[in-house]
Amino acid sequence: MSEKLIIFDTTLRDGEQSPGASMTKDEKVRIAKALERMQVDIIEAGFPIASEGDFESVRAVAKAVTQSRICGLARALDKDIDRAGEALKEANASRIHTFIATSPIHMKMKLRMEPDQVVENAVKAVKRALKYTDDVEFSPEDAGRSDPDFLCRILEAVIDAGARTLNIPDTVGYNVPQQFGQLITNLRERIPNSDKAIFSVHCHNDLGMAVANSLSAVLNGARQVECTINGLGERAGNAALEEVVMAVRTRQDLFTCDTNIDATQIVAASRLVSGITGFAVQPNKAIVGVNAFAHESGIHQDGVLKNRETYEIMRAEDVGWHTNRMVLGKHSGRNAFRSRLDELGISFESENELNAIFQRFKELADKKHEVFDEDIQALVNESLLSENEHVKLISLKVTSETGEMPIATMTLSVDGEEKQVEMSGSGPVDAAFRAIEEIVQSHTELQLYSVNNITSGTDSQGEVNVRLERGGRIVSGQGADTDIVIASAKAYVHALNKMILPLERAHPQV
Ligand code: KIV
Ligand code: ZN
Repeated sequence: MSEKLIIFDTTLRDGEQSPGASMTKDEKVRIAKALERMQVDIIEAGFPIASEGDFESVRAVAKAVTQSRICGLARALDKDIDRAGEALKEANASRIHTFIATSPIHMKMKLRMEPDQVVENAVKAVKRALKYTDDVEFSPEDAGRSDPDFLCRILEAVIDAGARTLNIPDTVGYNVPQQFGQLITNLRERIPNSDKAIFSVHCHNDLGMAVANSLSAVLNGARQVECTINGLGERAGNAALEEVVMAVRTRQDLFTCDTNIDATQIVAASRLVSGITGFAVQPNKAIVGVNAFAHESGIHQDGVLKNRETYEIMRAEDVGWHTNRMVLGKHSGRNAFRSRLDELGISFESENELNAIFQRFKELADKKHEVFDEDIQALVNESLLSENEHVKLISLKVTSETGEMPIATMTLSVDGEEKQVEMSGSGPVDAAFRAIEEIVQSHTELQLYSVNNITSGTDSQGEVNVRLERGGRIVSGQGADTDIVIASAKAYVHALNKMILPLERAHPQV
C-alpha cells in the first residue's frame, strides 16, 4: 500500500505573487472550487493580513470550499496570525501557515534579528496559531540557504511548540535535486522529534529545478509538496502541481507514495488559471501545453497508431484532454448546455447567471458553427470578468483597407457615461487601443499583447491577453471573441478595470 503524498496548492497565494496575476475574490473562489474538485488536500487561499481584499478572499474561499482544508499565510507576528485565524473562522477544516526567515542573509539584512530571537518568534507564532486551529504549519523561509544546524534547532523547537507540518522552502530556487533531497533526509534523521511532523517542500523555479527538487525531496521522505497550477508563482514560479502529480503517478515503480488528485481535472484547472490570470501556457509545457500529447513526426505518429505506448507514457484523457471536444451548436437547448457545464465542473450561484451565460452562448453559436468546451470556458471566464466594471465596451467599428491607416470608432461607458472617439493607428488593434486611451487617459504602458486561437479553424475565437503597467503596478486583462480586434479591446478594457481598483497590499516576504 502506497503512502499518501499531500498536495498543498498555493496558486491563490504564491501564484498570485507573480506580477500581473492578481485575482479578484470571485476569481479566487472559482479557482478554489476547481482545486476542490481536483481533490487538492490543502488550498492556501491567501495572506489575510496583506489587504482587506486578501482577507475577504480567504474568508470567501473558507466558506465556499468544504472538501479541502483551507490555509492562510501569516508571518511570525501576532497581528498576522490573528488576522489569519479570523479569516479562517468559517472553514470546515483550516490551517495556519506561519513562517520566518532562517538564512544568515535574511536574518541579518531583512529581519535584523539574532538567531535566538528568530527561534523565539517562531515558537511564539506556532503557539499563537494553535489558539485558532489544531493544524499549524511552520516554514523556515530560505531554508535552502540556511545553516542545517540552525534548521535542526528551530524545527525541533516548533515541533515541541505544536507545529505538525514542517515546510522546507527553497525560496530563491537555489538548490539542486541531489542536495535538496539530502537536506530532507538529514533533517528527518537529525531532529529528535521529527517523527511527530510531516515534512513538506516548497520549491521555486529560478534554475528550472522546482519540480525536480520537489520530487527528490519526496524520494527522501517529504510527504507534502507545495505547488501551483501551471507552475505560476513569484519570479520564475513554483513547482507545477500537474507535473509533480503526474510524475509520481506515472513512476509508481520509484515512488512509495501517491496523491489523491483526480488528474482528469488538471487541464480544466490549468485553463481556468491561465484564463483568469492571463498567464498563457506555453504550447510545449508538460501535461497542460496544447502540444504535450501531439505527435508531429511521421515515425512517432505511426508508432502511436500501432501502439500508443511506443511514444506515450501517459494518456491525454487521464489528465483531462478530451478526444471528443465538439459539444454544442446553435440548436442546443438550455438543458444540454447546463449538463455540459456540469460535466466541465462549472457551477453558477443563480439561474440568472446561467441565463446570462446561455444567452452569450447562443450569440456565439450564431457566429460559430461548432462550440467547443474551450469556447464555453472562455465564455464563462468572460462573464465573470464583466463584474464591477467602471469602463465598459459598448461598441467598436474598425475600418481597414490596403494603403490606408485603419480607423477605430470606439464607444465606451465610463462610470455610466457614454463617450465616443475616432482614432487611427498603425493597425486595427493599435487604432482600437489608442481610442480607448483617448477616452480613459489611463497613462498605462502596454507591456504584453498576445493572441491565441481558442480552438482550431478560422472561425475560432481569439483569446487576447494584455498586460499593462503604471507606476510599477502590473495588471493583466483577457478578452475572447471571434473578432480578434474586439477581443483585443475587451482585454484592454478588462485590464484597465483592474488597474482602477485600489490596491494596498503587503507582500509576505518584504
Ligand atoms: O518561497 C517561500 O519561502 C514562501 C514561504 C512563505 C513559504 O513562499
Ligand atoms: Zn514561495
